[in-house]
Amino acid sequence: MHSNIDKIPNFHIGNVPIFGEVILAPMAGFSDMPYRSICRELGSAMSYSEFVSTEAIVRHNEKTLRMLRFDPQERPVVFQIFGANPEVILEAAKKIEPMQPDIIDINMGCSVKKVSGKGAGAALLKSPSKIGEIFNLLSKELTIPVTGKIRLGWDHENLNYLEVVKAMQENGAQLVAVHGRTKQQAYKGNANWDAIAEIKSMAQVPVIGNGDVTCAADINRMKNHTGCDAVMIARAAIGNPWIFAGKDAEEVTLPEKLKMIRRHLTANLNFYDGDYGLILFRKHVVKYINSVYGARELRGQLVTATTVSEFEDIVKRAEENFVQL
Ligand SMILES: Cc1cc2nc3c(=O)[nH]c(=O)nc-3n(C[C@H](O)[C@H](O)[C@H](O)COP(=O)(O)O)c2cc1C
Repeated sequence: MHSNIDKIPNFHIGNVPIFGEVILAPMAGFSDMPYRSICRELGSAMSYSEFVSTEAIVRHNEKTLRMLRFDPQERPVVFQIFGANPEVILEAAKKIEPMQPDIIDINMGCSVKKVSGKGAGAALLKSPSKIGEIFNLLSKELTIPVTGKIRLGWDHENLNYLEVVKAMQENGAQLVAVHGRTKQQAYKGNANWDAIAEIKSMAQVPVIGNGDVTCAADINRMKNHTGCDAVMIARAAIGNPWIFAGKDAEEVTLPEKLKMIRRHLTANLNFYDGDYGLILFRKHVVKYINSVYGARELRGQLVTATTVSEFEDIVKRAEENFVQL
């Protein structure tokens, strides 16, 4: 249990207190309940779901709704949604509000064509007035805070982040998370922390900085550079949930990693039906082992294991071999 008794919140999102300053980013295909719970326990201050489609929610797509399951111990829980149509976004948000998330977040950063090509994700950045409309509708109609995650603009000629943040906060947004790149950059180049600092200096709501935090020391570097209220980590947290406890992957021993691999796999198997838990776990296990010197063979064995018992045997052997060393 995350006991916050006697602790002072770092900041509030609306009326939701946030204890801590490092947060696991929403990541499609990764940030599900098992992985989020591990990160939350190790120090991530809140739990963002991976983004879910508002159209799928409105169609009552079972698979989509199942993606929003969470453990109460993860609270504060944020449901992140994406869509292009303000009315559909509102309908979807009202439909999932009874599932009792603490916050609903609008994705305005996704650069993949399947999303931004349809007017959702980062494509919303092209229209601050539409962003204003979405936040106005949702903040009036929902009882929980509404937040947004943005990029700096569509491309370098259209760096309209200040206008976007203004449209958001004037229409009831309670927080802005900023990935310091444009949609056109996708993941190329460096994240622009100066722009995050600029947003922080004008924003009337809390700001979460995001982009290129690659190691534990970067957390303070970003905080000091931008003054942001919290730092959000995506890629560097895959295979290293310990980053939320301030540890780099190289500082975590192989037995600790193997123990975590067991735990994470068990949580996955409990959460997903059939073999799916093992299949989805492969991309995590590669990253857990990535930083282990001399573990190429072990990595190869783990990712090609086809049954849970085969997988567990490999982990057990690795643990025994390590002790014998
Ligand atoms: C595999 C993957 C999936 C992602 N899915 C989402 C998502 O569902 N919603 C979102 O807002 N951002 C998503 N992102 C973007 C991250 O939240 C984050 O903004 C970006 O990776 C930059 O942070 P980093 O440098 O710490 O990786 C995703 C990123 C990755 C690598």
